[in-house]
Amino acid sequence: MDPVLWNDWHPVAASAALAPGALLPVRLLEEEMLVWRDASGVVHAWNDRCPHRGARLSLGWVQEDRVVCAYHGWQFDAAGACRLQPAQPHDTPPKTACARRFAAREAYGLVWVCLGEPALELPPFPEHADARLRKVLCGPYPVHACGPRVIENFLDMAHFPFIHEGILGAREFTEVPDYRVDPYDDGLGERGMTGVIATECHAWQPQANLLAAGGSMVEYTYRVVRPLTAILTKLPAQQGGLAEAISLHVQPEDEEHCRAWIVLAMSNDSSSDEESRAFQDRIFLQDLAILESQRPKAIPLEPGMEVPQRADRLSAAYRRMLKALDLRYGVLPQER
Ligand code: FES
Ligand code: CO
Repeated sequence: MDPVLWNDWHPVAASAALAPGALLPVRLLEEEMLVWRDASGVVHAWNDRCPHRGARLSLGWVQEDRVVCAYHGWQFDAAGACRLQPAQPHDTPPKTACARRFAAREAYGLVWVCLGEPALELPPFPEHADARLRKVLCGPYPVHACGPRVIENFLDMAHFPFIHEGILGAREFTEVPDYRVDPYDDGLGERGMTGVIATECHAWQPQANLLAAGGSMVEYTYRVVRPLTAILTKLPAQQGGLAEAISLHVQPEDEEHCRAWIVLAMSNDSSSDEESRAFQDRIFLQDLAILESQRPKAIPLEPGMEVPQRADRLSAAYRRMLKALDLRYGVLPQER
């Protein structure tokens, strides 16, 4: 599996969906995982496999802060150690009888997991810390495509008048004005990453948000801070206004399947969270058919297989970023 993504953090669940006592099966980089929250509120991510006979632990339940396997009732404490084997209730379970654990954290309303050694910090999303912005978590949107294709779609302004006609674009305004693309230092030093930033991006939007009465020219900034995290900020229409942000985090399930999570940090609070979510759902659904239609499933990093246009400069920079990172997941060529 891809070493870069193996040692990076990925979203796997909504924090709010993980009540104490619930066992949630999730997939990440071909691993079947189990996430659960203990009585003290701490989230755990384990391999979804019982060390006894390999049954899925997520078929079991939580009892007195222990995960109980459904097959023979072995009980595992929050540290993953087996504390009881009901068939020999008076024996001490061997040390080898333990669940395989992964690093887990919570941020931005999401549960994040790193399967390997966390090499990086979580992707920075400073807008999320701004108390004046209302946060709405959208998704997860399951996509039969690889993660980088989903990120590229998010970075692409040229599709607005076609796929999102009447909402994010109009057929009378198809031209994508030139914009700036620069390297972007995420500010986290050694535990961070150099990504890509696009500034001075302009697009005509008939209905830039749920409450927009008429069309307007919108200025955007895009930051790609991780291979599978991109953040869009919309410059405020009036001076002194707040910059809204939309972050996209892709959970790579396997080479051809992922789930997209979107976190909105919005300045307008006259629409409800449900309305904002429904708006985002509608936009994502429009992209979905295209995303799942793209061939090859992995994006080609070498020129020749696809013909770029000038408006794709941001996507070209993103592909160079993936190439520099030596990413294997979701890109061609792949070493196998
Ligand atoms: Fe889990 Fe036997 S397989 S207790
Ligand atoms: Co789109």
